[in-house]
Amino acid sequence: MVKVNGNYKSLKQNYLFANIAKKLSDYVEANPTAKIIKMGIGDVTQPLPKVVIDALVNASKEMGVKETFRGYAPDEQGYAFLKSKIADYYKNNSNVELSDREIFVSDGAKSDVANFTDLFSNDNTIIIPDPVYPVYMDSNLMLGRKIQLINGNDINGFLPMPTENLDGDIIYLCSPNNPTGAVYTKEQLQQWVDFAIDHNAIILFDAAYEAFIADPDLPRSIYEIPNAKKCAVEFCSLSKTAGFTGTRCGYTIVPESLMADGESLNKMWMRRQTTKFNGTAYIIQRAAEAVFTDEGLKACRTIIDYYRANAKIMTDTMSKLRIWHTGGFNSPYVWIKCGMDSWEYFDALLNDINVVGTPGSGFGRCGAGYFRLTAFNTTENTIEAMDRFSKLFK
Ligand code: MLT
Repeated sequence: MVKVNGNYKSLKQNYLFANIAKKLSDYVEANPTAKIIKMGIGDVTQPLPKVVIDALVNASKEMGVKETFRGYAPDEQGYAFLKSKIADYYKNNSNVELSDREIFVSDGAKSDVANFTDLFSNDNTIIIPDPVYPVYMDSNLMLGRKIQLINGNDINGFLPMPTENLDGDIIYLCSPNNPTGAVYTKEQLQQWVDFAIDHNAIILFDAAYEAFIADPDLPRSIYEIPNAKKCAVEFCSLSKTAGFTGTRCGYTIVPESLMADGESLNKMWMRRQTTKFNGTAYIIQRAAEAVFTDEGLKACRTIIDYYRANAKIMTDTMSKLRIWHTGGFNSPYVWIKCGMDSWEYFDALLNDINVVGTPGSGFGRCGAGYFRLTAFNTTENTIEAMDRFSKLFK
């Protein structure tokens, strides 16, 4: 008789954002005229830059011509034209040198963050900050792994650090943190790198929101930290950097010098990906290449500034209303204290002002009593949502 993976029983019934989507669709069905403003899932609203659309159109046309048609890519880990642009981006942004063999192009950070766990034995202890992006927890629960949570709170600025008693093998770090917007400094990341090296541990560093870092002193890549190439994998994505939530493209950096248990993780990831993944679509890689041109990067910065301005409208409103908040400066998320059960707050906002956010407890038990709002909506909707907040809380 077939047996299913019993570890799924330890998961909550729905993935956080699927749960929110279901609650919202139930509400809309019951209240079809409600003018909902979505500040829940971090989904972008601004269209792709023209240079990206031109690249998509041109690449699509190439696919319709015999001479330029492409089937499987020569290298499933990414076309050379894109990998060299990603390497330049690292060089210019973070002064980090990458070889093209260290760059693995994918359909986004979420799948890579979850799939990378394939490389590790199930008897590892996984260190996960709390609150954080729920994929880390869920994908390890699916494998029945032992999880050691490290608490983020307003005392440590939602940036948990290694302590003397902490022990574990795989460490997830998310900086800028989703959901709180907190960013580790270079000194703090150095402590994590030293801890990982001392404990023969591996850091899985999620840099999906690096493009939102406004403070030039903060690190945008863990490889800005000496020795990080000996202990860290980095995940990045164009979803928020370039509006690719619906287009899908990301990249994972696995240094060639990175060893675990005597094995090269770069070689293992290559083996895993060549077996289970046939690469990102050619037209999408051409679109991603366009993101990294001067014109593309300039257009993306303009869009990020637009979201940043939304975040400022939100944080100004929260300050006026004397609602405790953080984030929104180096990140598109504003993290507020709601002073009540996060899901009750979700229901109250949905019912009273038709604004959807994300309950902090969905990101872990330390998120209880908090709530996350995204700056990814339009400016008009952000202003309208903040007016509704002001009327509700004045
Ligand atoms: C979020 O809202 O946390 C993200 O958009 C979800 C994701 O990137 O998968």
